[in-house]
Amino acid sequence: MDTTVASDHLAPRPGTGTATGPGTAVATSEQLIGTLPPDFRWGAATSAYQIEGAVAEDGRTPSIWDTFCRVPGAIDNGENGDTACDHYHRVSEDVALMKRLGLDAYRFSISWPRVQPGGRGPANERGLDFYERLVDALLEAGVEPWPTLFHWDLPQELEDAGGWPNRETAYRFADYAELVYRRLGDRVKVWTTLNEPSVVTTHGYLSGVHAPGRTSLADAVAAAHHQMLGHGLVGQRLRALAAEAGNPFELAVTLNLGPATPESDAPEDHEAVRRADGFNNRLYMDPLWFKRYPADVVEDLAARDVRIPVQDGDLELIGAPIDALGVNFYFGQQLSGRAEDGSTVDEGGVPVSRHVLQGLPRTAMGWEIMPDEFAELLTRVGREYPGVPVYVTENGAAFADEPDEKGYVHDVDRAAYIADHVAAVATARAAGTDIRGYFVWSLFDNFEWAYGYDKRFGIVRVDFETQQRTPKHSAEWYTETIRRVRG
Ligand code: FCB
Repeated sequence: MDTTVASDHLAPRPGTGTATGPGTAVATSEQLIGTLPPDFRWGAATSAYQIEGAVAEDGRTPSIWDTFCRVPGAIDNGENGDTACDHYHRVSEDVALMKRLGLDAYRFSISWPRVQPGGRGPANERGLDFYERLVDALLEAGVEPWPTLFHWDLPQELEDAGGWPNRETAYRFADYAELVYRRLGDRVKVWTTLNEPSVVTTHGYLSGVHAPGRTSLADAVAAAHHQMLGHGLVGQRLRALAAEAGNPFELAVTLNLGPATPESDAPEDHEAVRRADGFNNRLYMDPLWFKRYPADVVEDLAARDVRIPVQDGDLELIGAPIDALGVNFYFGQQLSGRAEDGSTVDEGGVPVSRHVLQGLPRTAMGWEIMPDEFAELLTRVGREYPGVPVYVTENGAAFADEPDEKGYVHDVDRAAYIADHVAAVATARAAGTDIRGYFVWSLFDNFEWAYGYDKRFGIVRVDFETQQRTPKHSAEWYTETIRRVRG
């Protein structure tokens, strides 16, 4: 993937996007943001393996990411999460920073192998102690804890036993969730089961660019279903525990929804869009909302001799009501159904889906910046999948930050990206989608998976030599915006 950023896009002014707002005039991003209600929730997000470090401390055992990072060539510069942001040792400092930034909520993830080493058996109390310290510090600081139970760091032993393609993993997930709930259920009010199951499916088990690095369509599809089953089983387990304890909570799941548009009106381009939307979006949304998998995706898979391993009762569990939907968004894709040589199928007879850049400004990841598609996506969610409050649980951008001698980064590009995407949220709200909050990805520069530390998404700079944290211009803008909207 080309990761250059066009120089003419390095310094746009923040919040000058021109998304179409409510009413007839074209509103600027800052005006649209001003239409958000005072009780809109503002947060920042991270995940365990990307920031904690301390991978061999207090009883934690390896996750599939610890293993994958040792595979030669898997991670840029041969990097790993051994130290990351050293957050494990810096909880009080980091929570104090969140408070200073004025965040309402902090989305983090819980490391399964820290809490339940090896992925089965009793809890590791020292691992739970860490999350308890974090949750208590957040509550003390007036920042709502918003934990995700699985953000990709599966215990290695469970991968050795078959990983997510093995149905057993879903049951192990519910046991692990119970251990976490028993310690923190009295203080956490929103539990998110999964983060972006589609990325685990496609990157972890199909293309193999993420841990565990497998490349099988059948495994990928089984991983998709078993993650969703795991979501359903966790929901069932936590609801039962909560009822016993008289402790209500909200159940959420976070999906990465990527809009796709056809390059032309050619039928094969529309087909490519249908397939991508089916495999990446509807494969997760439809069972949650309608208790069924999309018929066209089932057919596409059957044509490739792959079946979703659904058993009786699974869809009832998966489709049990949720209280909140987390949506992560970074970019959309324009697709062509033809390869560059004009063919519509590849050597294996598989229909072609080719990503075609639209010539839009791009982030350092090479991802095209498309806030209007974000507004459309959120509007579609409200229209086609109604009835559940939506939170944007991740959105943000990597840019080639240039710190000054004090470590300060004047990242007007990132502030503009965030402003234009928060404005898209306001646009979709005005169009009827019940969106109640926004979490920027990320609070910190951190370990960006296969890209290592080079791609910086933070609104707070981390100097990985000294572990010094320095809020960037985008963090100041965010704080100011929160203040303004709260009124
Ligand atoms: C998302 C992941 C998150 C982060 C961002 C950039 O897909 O959930 O951990 O890597 O992308």
